[in-house]
Amino acid sequence: MKPKTALITGITGQDGSYLAELLLSKDYRVVGMTRRTSTDSHDRIAPVLDRIEIVSGDLLDQHSMTTIIAETQPDEVYNLAAQSFVPTSWTQPVLTGEFTALGVTRILEAIRHVNPKIRFYQASSSEMFGKVQAVPQDEDTPFYPRSPYGVAKVYGHWITVNYRESFDLFAVSGILFNHESERRGREFVTRKISEGVARIKLGLDKKLKLGNLEAQRDWGFAGDYVKAMWLMLQQNEPQDFVIATGRTHKVRDFCKLAFSTMDLDYEKFVEQDPRFYRPAEVDLLVGDPAKAKRVLGWVPETSFEQLVEMMVRADVARLAALK
Ligand code: NAP
Ligand code: GDD
Repeated sequence: MKPKTALITGITGQDGSYLAELLLSKDYRVVGMTRRTSTDSHDRIAPVLDRIEIVSGDLLDQHSMTTIIAETQPDEVYNLAAQSFVPTSWTQPVLTGEFTALGVTRILEAIRHVNPKIRFYQASSSEMFGKVQAVPQDEDTPFYPRSPYGVAKVYGHWITVNYRESFDLFAVSGILFNHESERRGREFVTRKISEGVARIKLGLDKKLKLGNLEAQRDWGFAGDYVKAMWLMLQQNEPQDFVIATGRTHKVRDFCKLAFSTMDLDYEKFVEQDPRFYRPAEVDLLVGDPAKAKRVLGWVPETSFEQLVEMMVRADVARLAALK
């Protein structure tokens, strides 16, 4: 049988790299869309670059999206590309809307015109729940986004539902709660902490400056979460799913555990800095992944404790090797 073809937008990001590896292990032909940059941004996919095809395009550019889909003829499209950092969405709200909201419509339009049989995955986000209307949050919890990023994701979510209902596309959204790894961007809090611990342990820094330590997140491992993305596109019916661990922790808890992994006391090193507070905060996220377990058979395989230790040890090893 001919191998399936998957097109991944955002393949150079954290999730794109894990998803590419997963799909290669399932014998897919993997095509990754990247945008042109003046410096190379292929670090995360370097180990698989010789096994995937890279095509050049941009979520801002309808023509490139349509051409890529027409030329590569994917069976499945995973839209992981976005301006994904919440604080940047306040300083660049219009651009965030263009990438993270309207970019979704551009891909859906390309699919609809080129081949409406293509299956489509949209990377929706627990950030859409924002000021939460229920605890825990599931597929029926109303959205109340608290940032331009969250607002843009709500648009991306509903346009996916709308194209499914209007044009009978197999288009689904995964409402993923925070998921992390040693490949996480350095500006996100978990990686900022794991790298901060490593730098302090190795004598490269004395302090770690953070914002709100009381915010609570439902943190899982990115490698587990990309399996759920794939499962969603293998179902008989298109449906949306919450993907989460069902456990929540404070940023403070993450710090405590991360520093203790290296026998350090976080209270001696962490300083709060108003620069890292947000104009509006999402105080508490905790998802209910019961539907994913029931329908997809998906459960998270990595615990919070394993995740924290994995991230800290990876940063210590990486920085120690550079010394
Ligand atoms: P990430 O590491 O920030 O990666 C984002 C990707 O989008 C990068 O490959 C980036 O390419 C690409 N991109 C940005 N703007 C683009 C544009 N205009 N055209 C084409 N590509 C563009 O994000 P992630 O953590 O892997 O997350 C993947 C997706 O899931 C994102 O949509 C994110 O919003 C969503 N999400 C993430 C989480 C989470 O906890 N990680 C939770 C829920 C939802 P460059 O390398 O060129 O910058
Ligand atoms: N980034 C950052 N830096 N966050 C900090 C800091 C800091 O110095 N100090 C405290 N925090 C708090 C933030 O205020 C927030 O409450 C929490 O840590 C998590 O922040 P991030 O790691 O930046 O992630 P996020 O929850 O805002 O967004 C991530 O998860 C979403 C899913 O809920 C991103 O991956 C989004 O793209 C994703 O959709």
